Amino acid sequence: MNYIFLGPPGSGKGTQAERLAKKHHAIYFGTGDMMREEARLGTNLGQKFQEIWDKGTGELIPEDLVNEFVINKISELDQNQEVIFDGYPRSLKQAEAFVKAFDEKSFRVININVSLKNLIERLSTRRICSKCGKVFFRADISGQKICDSCGNKLIQRQDDRPEVIKKRIDVYQKETQPLIDYYKSQNLLIDINGNPPIDKVEKEIEEKLND
Ligand code: AP5
Repeated sequence: MNYIFLGPPGSGKGTQAERLAKKHHAIYFGTGDMMREEARLGTNLGQKFQEIWDKGTGELIPEDLVNEFVINKISELDQNQEVIFDGYPRSLKQAEAFVKAFDEKSFRVININVSLKNLIERLSTRRICSKCGKVFFRADISGQKICDSCGNKLIQRQDDRPEVIKKRIDVYQKETQPLIDYYKSQNLLIDINGNPPIDKVEKEIEEKLND
């Protein structure tokens, strides 16, 4: 079985998708991370992503660019292995492209729900490593400034600035909610309460997958 993680920005889908991939010895397919890496590399496509993020509107990357990038990455996957998708598809149009690219393989959708208050707190206090991308929660409060994995500087993600967070959440409602409704109508959706601590959320996912 393959899994798609959905949830608003800051819901913890990246955190939980990585944990599930580790547990299942599956491939973790993190779209946002791959796009940020492409931007860091400064490729043509990466520069286009960066231009969109620089506008600070919280918008998604346009479909044609996402499909060019993601479909290519999917074609490189070993499709005999289980894959955990984080951040793709996230619109009805992307879901259509996904089914074709992923060769009609079966999947279920894990939808993480979190209150607006928690989303804002998590995103505004998140820091990431400027080199390896490792995520640190509440690093600004704990005072941690250096990555404990590679020793590089921690930075705030460009889209975690307060003025962009709200816009990203609005974009999520507009673009991704219709996809959630669609997956629900297809009986593919597993709803998870993402408000409790990370380990508790992980446990709920595990229990629901074993149901
Ligand atoms: P992306 O990087 O995917 O960002 P996102 O969807 O906004 O999600 P986040 O990474 O912010 O949050 P998350 O839910 O993964 O939470 P996390 O686990 O980090 O995409 C960024 C941008 O790229 C998009 O805006 C778009 O422009 C573009 N893009 C990407 N995919 C695209 C696509 N398919 N189409 C078009 N454009 C696309 O957790 C957040 C924080 O909370 C962390 O610090 C974590 O430690 C902490 N935390 C997690 N769980 C808990 C918990 N239970 N309790 C307390 N803290 C927790």
